Amino acid sequence: MISNFFVTLSLNSKSSEHILSKVKASSPDQWTTMLDQSIYKLTINDFNDDPDIVEFITRFGANERLSVFRYVDNICFQWHKDRIRSSALNMVLEGFDSFCAFGILDKGNTFSKITRLEHKPNKYYLMNVKEYHTVFNFSNERYILSIGLEQPYEEVTAYLKEKNLI
Ligand SMILES: [Fe+2]
Repeated sequence: MISNFFVTLSLNSKSSEHILSKVKASSPDQWTTMLDQSIYKLTINDFNDDPDIVEFITRFGANERLSVFRYVDNICFQWHKDRIRSSALNMVLEGFDSFCAFGILDKGNTFSKITRLEHKPNKYYLMNVKEYHTVFNFSNERYILSIGLEQPYEEVTAYLKEKNLI
């Protein structure tokens, strides 16, 4: 049974080290700022060591939505649902003491049931960003690779299943 919030891909990324080195060697003018987030654009060639992901990006037409987001230390997000994308394939590159939480926020209830996602190194996670989520970031800057998708979580999950990637 696949969670309605996120699913872990079985493959171990071989591109993550290259991407983190590239990001760390970048200059400030290669970053843009949107909604308080610093964004660094990647190209599909950055994923060449993960051929399944290259195929994934092509299949979902996500070539223009390959980014690394950088967040400062000791912050949390407001609970939100993403507006400009339906799902996302994410991998944390640095800042592993951070975590993401999904929740069902029932108005009028004192408590919300939450599901925690702790990202592991070299692991991709498909996220249902149309469900409420937040991120807590602690002592480190957090670098997260994100492939934004227009297609809904259910459609992408079905593809990953068919390809034996989950
Ligand atoms: Fe989000």
